[in-house]
Amino acid sequence: MPARLSPQAFVARYWHKRPLLMRGALPGFDEIFTWPQLRRLAERDDVESRLVAREGSRWTMTRGPFPRSTWRELPPRQWTLLVQGINLHDRRADRLMRRFAFLPFARLDDLMVSHAAPGGGVGPHVDSYDVFLLQGAGQRRWRYGQQRDLAFKPRLPLKILARFAPSHDHVLERGDILYLPPHVAHDGVALTTCTTYSIGFRAAGATELAQAFLDYLRDRVDLPGRYADPDLRATSTPARIDPRMQARLASMLRKVRVNRRMIDDFAGTWLSEPKPDVFFVPPAVPLSRAAFARAAAMHGVVLDVRTQLLYDDAAFYINGVALAPLRAARAALASLANQRALRAAQCSVLPASTITLFYDWYRDGYLDVDR
Ligand code: SIN
Ligand code: CO
Repeated sequence: MPARLSPQAFVARYWHKRPLLMRGALPGFDEIFTWPQLRRLAERDDVESRLVAREGSRWTMTRGPFPRSTWRELPPRQWTLLVQGINLHDRRADRLMRRFAFLPFARLDDLMVSHAAPGGGVGPHVDSYDVFLLQGAGQRRWRYGQQRDLAFKPRLPLKILARFAPSHDHVLERGDILYLPPHVAHDGVALTTCTTYSIGFRAAGATELAQAFLDYLRDRVDLPGRYADPDLRATSTPARIDPRMQARLASMLRKVRVNRRMIDDFAGTWLSEPKPDVFFVPPAVPLSRAAFARAAAMHGVVLDVRTQLLYDDAAFYINGVALAPLRAARAALASLANQRALRAAQCSVLPASTITLFYDWYRDGYLDVDR
């Protein structure tokens, strides 16, 4: 946040409500990747990337991973490479994303970077998510505004607004941030070769949420008894599902109970679930438990960039799994969850059971010694 606006004031006035241009929000903001480093990420099959190019009214969109020859063949103008989830691959990228920690981690989605040649962009569009667009190197012209008409152009590989009537027009320079709530029409066009970092926020669709909850329930439902019909009568219409059978089935199903604790437990596990393409890498040559405890007390511990650690009043949720730690461990775990790290001094006073928990996480690749 720019110094002149507190997080509280930003949230009250702008979050999920209206756009805000913040000039010089991160003065001197330093590039996270060089162009060769970014290209290399886009060549990896565990990184989501897209290349969007435009020739007149013709748009093309290609998904990565890209062969190395791609970069030699790029024209001088009107293309942009977008690399998603860079926070999962680089600690500085994760740190940049966590600068927005005045908003809940459960709402954070990922950090995307786009690298565009002059004239490059993805066309006028709307997103369903809140986003902070942070300008890195170069200049990008952003035009944006609220509009009712959200119809897309037909037969294009991208969702591009058929009509775009922006009410704002600004050129962003290094360190400027444009915040956009969902459904604001926007178009960012590179004036020079430029990079833009998008800190995106997730918001579940109601159907997606309900489907995820039903999956959760399926794994946990455990009802006693079995259908029984000692009062069955002989029938001449055996194909008919008779009302007594329907009533019995209905009463069996009414035993499926949903209570608030289940919903909260579901929410914690679901919100902390890593994305499907996330894999943790356990240490190749793990320290012994004793060596780990000594190293943690000397250097502190840090969560892996891929780890999601959240909590509520009842439990902690790490990468999709709930755990109810001892009361004595809660304050340290809450610090670890909020700061994403614990200092050496904090680790050195932890009870043995918490060190054992951390050691298990270390062995799973969820956490490491802060070397
Ligand atoms: C970009 O960085 O080029 C696109 C970001 C966006 O408009 O959502
Ligand atoms: Co957008």
